[in-house]
Parts: sequence; structure tokens; C-alpha cells
Amino acid sequence: MEAMRAVQILNPSGEVTMPRPERTRVMCVANQKGGVGKTTTTVNLAVALALHGNRVLVIDLDPQGNASTGLNVPHHTGVPDVYDCLIDSVPLAEVAQGVEGIPNLWCVPATIDLAGAEIELVSVVARESRLARAIAAYPGHFDYVFIDCPPSLGLLTVNALVAAQEVLIPIQCEYYALEGLNQLINNINLVRQHLNPSLDVSTILLTMYDRRTRLADAVEQDVRNHFGDKVLQAVIPRNVRVSEAPSYGQSVMTYDPGSRGATSYFEAAQEIAERGVKESR
Ligand SMILES: Nc1ncnc2c1ncn2[C@@H]1O[C@H](COP(=O)(O)OP(=O)(O)OP(=O)(O)O)[C@@H](O)[C@H]1O
Ligand SMILES: [Mg+2]
Repeated sequence: MEAMRAVQILNPSGEVTMPRPERTRVMCVANQKGGVGKTTTTVNLAVALALHGNRVLVIDLDPQGNASTGLNVPHHTGVPDVYDCLIDSVPLAEVAQGVEGIPNLWCVPATIDLAGAEIELVSVVARESRLARAIAAYPGHFDYVFIDCPPSLGLLTVNALVAAQEVLIPIQCEYYALEGLNQLINNINLVRQHLNPSLDVSTILLTMYDRRTRLADAVEQDVRNHFGDKVLQAVIPRNVRVSEAPSYGQSVMTYDPGSRGATSYFEAAQEIAERGVKESR
């Protein structure tokens, strides 16, 4: 019911479609800076695309388990999780859980076990490509796979970068936003050179934009000058409904589909979907 209500409010005429890509798009949502909106972006884009007919998998690759919480997927100790896939080669299909209330959306949760993976991976064979192998063994099921990264550039994030074709970088509209981005871009370049030649920073999303400040505007201009058309037209405003939604185990798309947070994530998802079909033409 909530999913239907969300679609009716976000897309009342039903005119907006989110075309499905020809091949699975694996998107790594990364920024080693903490609290910039990686998880919020992963959850809300995934729900928006799933509500509009795409088959979507979210892989929670952060030991904090925030994406699992946001999608209301059980992730207490003992639940099979992404750790089992990375360290013990358990197939993703055995670990993925359907997200309640959102057809076409699945989540591979993270439990606290994942906190040890960063260290345990060091001595594992093919340690950088464990996630890539797990995803490759689960082909054809999904239109989108979103990987929610932790705020670091360690082996978990490297696994996500090796597994993905695209990187989506959320950038918070604040003063230090661009600091540290060089380090992320350098790491992406290293992964491209040595492990995943087709990796592309395809999408930049400006998050937590506060229209009342001139600073937000200046950051937006900076980011647009630097990254050009990789930056989505849609900008996510700072919106209290966005931050309330996870405590109800919901995305803002279903929690308050009329809010500015929901409509802007809806627009961002639509842009991403349209770019995906343009590029494959
Ligand atoms: N557009 C928004 N408006 C208001 N609050 C937001 C918005 N986006 C995110 N938040 C809040 O900001 C905090 C950080 O967001 P989020 O957890 O998505 O960032 P993150 O980059 O995943 O963090 P981490 O680096 O810890 O994984 C959360 O409390 C979230 O609810
Ligand atoms: Mg997060």
C-alpha cells in the first residue's frame, strides 16, 4: 500500500518511466568522508528505481549496517551477511533478502561481523576481487546493484570499486566538501589501472543542499565546474523528512513521498535511469 501511495504521489500521471538498462549497472556509492549521504542516497535511489519497475539489489558493505537498517532488513548477529560472501564465498543469492513492502528490491545486509573483514581480507586469495566474483556469479537478475561503501578507502571500498562499472560520489554542499576528493579519485585511478579498467566515475550527486546559505551555492558551482555533466541536475536539499525516515525503517520515498527530499531523490533516480539507456545506445 505504501509503495503504491508513494508512486501515486511522486508520479501522479504515471508519465515518468524509469527505463531499464540493457545490462546490469553496478554502481559503487563511495566517498571516504563520513556522513555525506552515501547510505541515504543508496537507499532512496534504490527504492525510487524499484518503485518504477527496475529490479534492484543493495549491497550493504559498511559494518555500521546503516543501509540494512534504512531498508528494515534484519541484520543482527547470526544473520547471513555480506561478510559470508566475501570471506566464505557463500553465494549472494543465499544471503540477499527481499525488502518488505517494496517489490523488486533486495538487500544483502551487513552485520557487525563485517567489521573484521577489512583485516581478514588481507590474507585471503584475490582479496580485492571477492565482491566482483560474488556479483559475477549472480548474473542477469538485476537492473541495478548499488554498493553502499563505508567511509574509508580500505579493502572493502576497493572490493566495491573492483566490482562496479560506475562510481557515484555523493558530495555534501559544505566547505570541506572537496577536501579528500583527490584522494578518492587517485584511488579510483589506481583501481582502474591495475584491477578494473572499465571503472568510470559516472555520477556526482550534491546532497544536503541548504538554499539559505551562499556557501552551498559556491560549492555547487565549484563541483559543476570541476566535474561538468557528471553532476546530476537534481540536487538533494537538506530536509528533515530524509533524516527521520530511517528511524521508521523506511526510505523517504515511502515515509513522505510529497517531501522535497523524496521528490529530489525521485528526479535523481530518473536522471540516472535515462543516462543509462542513452549511453548504451
Ligand atoms: N538530504 C538530507 N537532509 C537531512 N538529513 C540528511 C540528508 N541526507 C542525509 N541526512 C542525514 O545525515 C546523516 C548522514 O547521512 P548518511 O548516513 O546517508 O551518510 P553516509 O555518507 O552514509 O555516512 P557514513 O560515512 O557514516 O556511512 C544521517 O543522519 C542522515 O539521516
Ligand atoms: Mg553510510
